[in-house]
Amino acid sequence: MTIQAPAGRPAAPTPGHATPLPLRREGPAKLTGQALYTDDLVFPGAWYGATIRSTVPHARLLAIELDPAFDWGRVAVVTADDIAGRNVVASIAEDQPILVPVGGEIRHQAEPVVLLAAADRDTLREARRLVSLRTEPLPPVFDPLASTVVFAHHALVKGDVEAALAADGVVVVEATYRVGHQEQLYIENNAMIAIPRGDGGMTVHGSLQCPFYVHRALRTGLGLDDAHAQVVQAETGGGFGGKEEYPSMIALHAALLARRTGRPVRMIYDRHEDLAATTKRHPAVIRHRTGVRRDGTIVAQDIELVLDGGAYTTLTPVVLSRATIHAGGPYDVPNVRIRSRAVATNTPPNGAFRGFGAPQAEFAAEMQVGRCAEAIGMSPLEIRRRNAYRAAGVTPTGQVLHDDAAALEVLERAAEASEFDWVRARTAAERAGRGPRARTARGIGLALGWHGAGFTGSGEAKMGSVASIELTGDGRIRILTASTEMGQGTKTIFPQLVAAELGVDPDDVEMAPQDTSLVPDSGPTVASRTAMVVGGLLVHAARRLKADVEGRTGRPFELSWRDDARDHGPTRIDERFSPYPGRSFDDATYSGDAYPAFGWAAAVAEVEVDLDTAEVTVLSVVAVDDVGRAIHPVLCEGQVEGGTLQAVGYATIEEIKLVDGRYLNDRLQTYLIPTSLDAPRIETILVEAPFEDAPHGAKGVGELPMDVGAPAVVAAIHDATGAWIDDLPASPERIIAALAGIAPPGPPGMSTVSAP
Ligand code: MTE
Ligand code: MOS
Repeated sequence: MTIQAPAGRPAAPTPGHATPLPLRREGPAKLTGQALYTDDLVFPGAWYGATIRSTVPHARLLAIELDPAFDWGRVAVVTADDIAGRNVVASIAEDQPILVPVGGEIRHQAEPVVLLAAADRDTLREARRLVSLRTEPLPPVFDPLASTVVFAHHALVKGDVEAALAADGVVVVEATYRVGHQEQLYIENNAMIAIPRGDGGMTVHGSLQCPFYVHRALRTGLGLDDAHAQVVQAETGGGFGGKEEYPSMIALHAALLARRTGRPVRMIYDRHEDLAATTKRHPAVIRHRTGVRRDGTIVAQDIELVLDGGAYTTLTPVVLSRATIHAGGPYDVPNVRIRSRAVATNTPPNGAFRGFGAPQAEFAAEMQVGRCAEAIGMSPLEIRRRNAYRAAGVTPTGQVLHDDAAALEVLERAAEASEFDWVRARTAAERAGRGPRARTARGIGLALGWHGAGFTGSGEAKMGSVASIELTGDGRIRILTASTEMGQGTKTIFPQLVAAELGVDPDDVEMAPQDTSLVPDSGPTVASRTAMVVGGLLVHAARRLKADVEGRTGRPFELSWRDDARDHGPTRIDERFSPYPGRSFDDATYSGDAYPAFGWAAAVAEVEVDLDTAEVTVLSVVAVDDVGRAIHPVLCEGQVEGGTLQAVGYATIEEIKLVDGRYLNDRLQTYLIPTSLDAPRIETILVEAPFEDAPHGAKGVGELPMDVGAPAVVAAIHDATGAWIDDLPASPERIIAALAGIAPPGPPGMSTVSAP
């Protein structure tokens, strides 16, 4: 790994790089098995909960039938009738029920209808089989292009696209791209335990990203006030967006059963249930029409993007927003029209997954740029050089970029580190001289990307997050935030940032548990916002704490904080987010500063394609990511490697097959992801083009690498074989079809309908 400041700029101040980096805070407990994940937590007398789900994609629920031969006194049964609050999983819209009521509409195959709890698993297993749902089928919709139910839509227009496409000397390139579902596949499945309290309140411990999302869902569904709902994050074995929203559903289910039984109830999903029922990355259909001049200038982009939201709204409108804004890729194009919509289909709802709409949109954008380069006979590197955003570039929402626009830097670093031109000349020569007996082909591919840092638009301003630091009466320094650790490093970088401000050792700084009864709402752990936004609040809070203490003691903080605590008692600083200066977004016109800053990324992949089986081996990836400022370079590198590997899976093997709106390969045996044996050699280069309005310059790194890995790999497959693969994943079936010039297998993400 290397870290570099962009050309012509001084290196960012990086305290901590000189001294040894702190070890991952929660690492030893995870390594030694001492960490307590939800399923490890013991609550005496707890019962086990289970969910009875629909098995049809669209139907009217006529009745719930319990087999009269069974002694139902041994289990607790909860239906929609037992919901004390409102029967909705509170999210952006309130369209998703906690349980479908009798007479209500079932909208997907895995929809929850009945909850059961029993003292032991055997009884529960037996009872599960004895519940049946009587339904009357309704016509399902599986094709997003045929859906008439629109969750959200946007139209972004800059310049005059049609005039630019029709102009003399402009080559018009058209293509349609389709991407399918992708499963987050965190190591730990979703899990929640609800514990009823003596005061009528409810405490939930679980695996989750966003404690206050679950808190709000509990308040709404159980009819509780703030103080009577409590959510505590247990050690969480990865989320990747998949624990952003569905945990609210599971917490509500566990809580309803806990209320009914008066006991703790454990709702621990196994892998099959987690795969079958919880959210996936949105499938998308993306059509591009691009106008490019022979000198490589892209003059117009006409883009139509359709996201398949599945059965309920969930987070889809926000995913669509990010997909729309990123749809053109990191290129300054004078004439742009982006029309987008997210629609309903009768599959389980799709949701957040690392990248949040950007990987889908940027895959299409990058494949399209590669096609344009080929159409005018230019190298994929050169066309990107000519069109990439520079400082003062204007995005389709009218946002003027600042001088942290590091697209060219990451591009040049990636080209240089991978020897792109040299390798590409070699693969071209190899392709030209390839005889009919060749069994393998090598290729190299390049992709450039951008990722808006933090929430889209006015999200952060509306959220008004608070992060706190406390100097306790007994002289401890404590960070209080709702930001969760899910492997990305929250618990390590927060103490690091605070310690650097205060001049103390990171080990002197504690982290309060992510418990909604203790910490302020510092917002959800999503949108790679933790380092930039919440980290920034903590830096400000630490500065205030330091000034307070030094003002009282007249001595440096690091020498006087314990005395101050003893003499003056506790000090608590609550730092509330205020919008970054000069940044504003208008929701009504959908224009302005869509993000406070952008991170920039480039990836160069080298692949080998087996010409008999069309299997792809990704040999290496050079990943260059501008993170603003690398607070903990080792953790940053981990983020880049992890995001890149998820992108390699997205590009090559990860695909969900559906029949009648049900996922067929809903097992680890059949849903394949890259293992360590499939992992390419990943070389990480971190670029630091600081976000000047964050006190520490950080822009975040969590999702950025996910945007560029897939288009780089598929461009490399094109370089090796000459075939354009427009659908993800570029599976052997699709590559063979492309090479043979025959129709590819059905589009990804689309359900087939079983024969009657
Ligand atoms: N890294 C690990 N190890 N585990 C995760 O669950 N989630 C990703 C990314 N990196 C994730 C991860 C996603 S989807 C996001 S939005 C960010 O981390 C969230 O964390 P951050 O705000 O600290 O970047
Ligand atoms: Mo990340 S997809 O915003 O949890």
